[in-house]
Amino acid sequence: MTQRTWTAVDDYLDQRIVRPDDALSGSLAASRAAGLPAIAVTAAQGKLLNLLARAMGARRILEIGTLGGYSAIWLARALPPGGRLISLEYSPKHAEVARASLARAGLAEVAEVRVGAGLDLLPQLSGPFDFFFIDADKEGYPDYFRGCLALSRPGSVMVFDNMVRDGEIIDDRTSDPDVRGARQLYDDIAAEPRVSATSIQTVGSKGYDGFCMLVVNG
Ligand code: SAH
Ligand code: DHB
Ligand code: MG
Repeated sequence: MTQRTWTAVDDYLDQRIVRPDDALSGSLAASRAAGLPAIAVTAAQGKLLNLLARAMGARRILEIGTLGGYSAIWLARALPPGGRLISLEYSPKHAEVARASLARAGLAEVAEVRVGAGLDLLPQLSGPFDFFFIDADKEGYPDYFRGCLALSRPGSVMVFDNMVRDGEIIDDRTSDPDVRGARQLYDDIAAEPRVSATSIQTVGSKGYDGFCMLVVNG
């Protein structure tokens, strides 16, 4: 069972139940046309984010790492009337592509992309946010965890992408800064009594990786 099967199954699931629409496919096409890297979440993962945010009734969502706005569209669509998504993006070019795609999806009034380094922008925000999706530089994950915790309330949910990385996460001698950042986050979560966490290994069209999800305890 390898990549070819995982991709074919993602295609099958997308057609049956995930059903990304033209605005979502269009945002990937716009990202590709602008030369952005093809590292957005898969449709099935985006839909999972959408369902998690809806299930917990999120009204304020914070994303770190916008890229071309693909996950932002899934997340913003989870919001009830009056809800808001803020997404932080370091690259002005990525932010521009994302804003255009969000506008084409009819979400310009709902979703705001702020340009800058996540760590610089976080202190300018006021909480609480109900739902967080963290998907920017992995080295920054431990700092993003602290910053997001400060903007949370009991019951807030955080999801971190890329937390398994082809299984590299269990290599305690790795020099890869992305993997080291993810491993440090696991240590920090383990040492933080205010949160309850799990991590789910995933396969699909993007390979083998994982989502780490936590809830801030009441
Ligand atoms: N969430 C997106 C994919 C994000 S890819 C999706 O699934 O559609 C990671 C993004 O994080 C890239 O656009 C990159 O420019 C951005 N990024 C990298 N370092 C960052 C930083 N320090 N602060 C904010 N964004 C950063
Ligand atoms: C890659 C994948 C991601 O989901 C991400 O956020 C950054 C990089 C990658 O496959 O390189
Ligand atoms: Mg990612």
